[in-house]
Amino acid sequence: MRDQKQRKAECGDFQTPLSLAREVCSLIARTGFRPASILEPTCGTGSFLKASLETFPDVSRVLGFEINPQYVLQARDAVAHAFPHTSIDVHQSDFFLTRWSEIVEALPEPILVIGNPPWVTNTALSTWGSNNLPQKSNLDNLPGIDALTGKSNFDISEWMLRQTIEWLNGKNGVLAMLCKTTVARKVLSYAWQNGLRIESASLYMLDAREYFRASVDACLLVVRSNPTGNSQECQVFRSLHAQQPDSSFGLPDGMPVADVKPYLKWKDLTGTGLRGWRSGIKHDCSNVFELRIERGNLVNGLGECVDIAPEVPFPLLKSSDLAAHRKPHRWMLIPQRAMSEDPIHLRLDAPKAWKHLTAHAHLLDRRKSSIYRNRPRFSVFGVGPYSFAHWKIAISGLYKKLEFVQVPPFLESPVVLDDTCYFFHVSLKKHATYCTNWLHPNLPESSGLPSFSGIQSGQLRHNFLIHLI
Ligand SMILES: C[S@@+](CC[C@H](N)C(=O)[O-])C[C@H]1O[C@@H](n2cnc3c(N)ncnc32)[C@H](O)[C@@H]1O
Repeated sequence: MRDQKQRKAECGDFQTPLSLAREVCSLIARTGFRPASILEPTCGTGSFLKASLETFPDVSRVLGFEINPQYVLQARDAVAHAFPHTSIDVHQSDFFLTRWSEIVEALPEPILVIGNPPWVTNTALSTWGSNNLPQKSNLDNLPGIDALTGKSNFDISEWMLRQTIEWLNGKNGVLAMLCKTTVARKVLSYAWQNGLRIESASLYMLDAREYFRASVDACLLVVRSNPTGNSQECQVFRSLHAQQPDSSFGLPDGMPVADVKPYLKWKDLTGTGLRGWRSGIKHDCSNVFELRIERGNLVNGLGECVDIAPEVPFPLLKSSDLAAHRKPHRWMLIPQRAMSEDPIHLRLDAPKAWKHLTAHAHLLDRRKSSIYRNRPRFSVFGVGPYSFAHWKIAISGLYKKLEFVQVPPFLESPVVLDDTCYFFHVSLKKHATYCTNWLHPNLPESSGLPSFSGIQSGQLRHNFLIHLI
């Protein structure tokens, strides 16, 4: 009993219910595709053979293959009597030892390759000591699993699907296979990167728990191939019954893109050029470094009055302030002007600030982040001349809204930002205004703004946005 269970697991044996196989076949028929031959490379008990024969009764050749001899008998039983006038063969065969190239060459086109390859990984197989894997060499002289996987975890179905999609390359056909969604995406990316002739690809999500009692993200992958196909996009449908795709992914411009539509909308923003996009200052101890004014006094996060020289604290904005378009109402004690500076200089330059820091050394020395290790005591991060530039264009790193906020000086002092914000700095107001205007998404390209420093508008806008997308 245990052996039988293990054998089923090694073979990734989840037989497709006939009802699901029928739904898949009628979906293919709805696309207008009419096969002359049907091939099921791991046909199990024959659900797909039966359903495809019911849906495409005019097919002239039907072939099924399966490793389990019991299933071969069952599959033959399922179709032989019901379709006596069609040429149907079901063979007992190991996928990895079958001469597929010869078999596929002999099939009349259009060819439908349909099925549900085994759902099992090479890692699982090796823990069971199973050899249900492509060996070092096989009859089609294809590389073994190690060459493909680099010995990493790999779905056997992915290896099979890669072969299957290659059989159809340059031919008129459809591949329709149930598989894990991750497998479908990897197989398509393999096909696109290898320039296989694909006319279109679609992925229909399905509930694997309902059909197979398996909790994985599963789908039906449908790939239409023909000798002139050159599509590198796959439409994603939320179910087998969905009429319209929800999204599509692919390789537009040769680059992997998770959602093609927004990419096409924003792609003019990509490019290279202007540097200088920064994140705000990181200190990890707001009780000590952040101050507010209460009744004319600077007060720290512990509620203590802090007496320090006015040149040490700077007006501070955080993400929430940017989102609410608030003026600074907090100050940040900044112990260095550059990362290379040691805060110890405060002992002479700003003794009161130094006293405040040493009085709270127990809190500052406890900061957990490894970035403070081997750094001068009381150091902060992300500080440099750019932190003290008088004009900044900032965006919150916490909110999804693509909103750039112009940050002017406050009380004649540059405003600093904390590490929840990103910003670009300029020294003059007119440059800040120019950048802010260009970053406004609704501003037409032809608004007639003057250029400065030889920077092109598209390039400029890109450089702000590319770091955020
Ligand atoms: C997920 S089941 C699907 C069966 C059938 N395609 C269906 O949809 O009902 C995978 C099938 O692959 C078969 N199989 C596993 N390893 C195989 C191999 N190396 N060669 C051929 N068939 C194999 C299993 O016995 C099992 O019937």
